[in-house]
Amino acid sequence: MKEEIAELLAPYQREKGALIPALQKIQEKYGYLPPDAIKEAAQLLNVSVNELYGVATFYAQFRFTRPGRHSIKVCLGTACHVRGGARIMDRVQDELGIRAGEVTEDYRFGMERVACFGCCALAPVVVVDQDIHSKMTPVKTLEVLKRYE
Ligand code: FES
Repeated sequence: MKEEIAELLAPYQREKGALIPALQKIQEKYGYLPPDAIKEAAQLLNVSVNELYGVATFYAQFRFTRPGRHSIKVCLGTACHVRGGARIMDRVQDELGIRAGEVTEDYRFGMERVACFGCCALAPVVVVDQDIHSKMTPVKTLEVLKRYE
């Protein structure tokens, strides 16, 4: 990982204020900020590990745990909730054995709850990666998930 990080951050090593783009580059490569990458980056960018974590934790865009290969977002906003969003969430959680905010053991899926996607007329809505699935039911959702290996 050491060489990879050095190569990745080569353009930022002499630039002041390049911490955020450097962190973005790392996250782009690994999907999150692995602790070893943070350590390497701190050394290369001549800042302390604490300082780098301080910057990274300030911004919601940075993740500190490895994400699933596919992200499932179940909407629990009002329109989706009254049309069965919570039942979908419960069924998916039971099926995958994870709760919102967690990732399956095989890293196939990560799941989150969302407050509203802004397309309430399609409720209940489930988004997998970039695909919007409308008027979902628990059974339809499980069918859809089979398409994502
Ligand atoms: S409440 Fe689900 S899309 Fe708006």
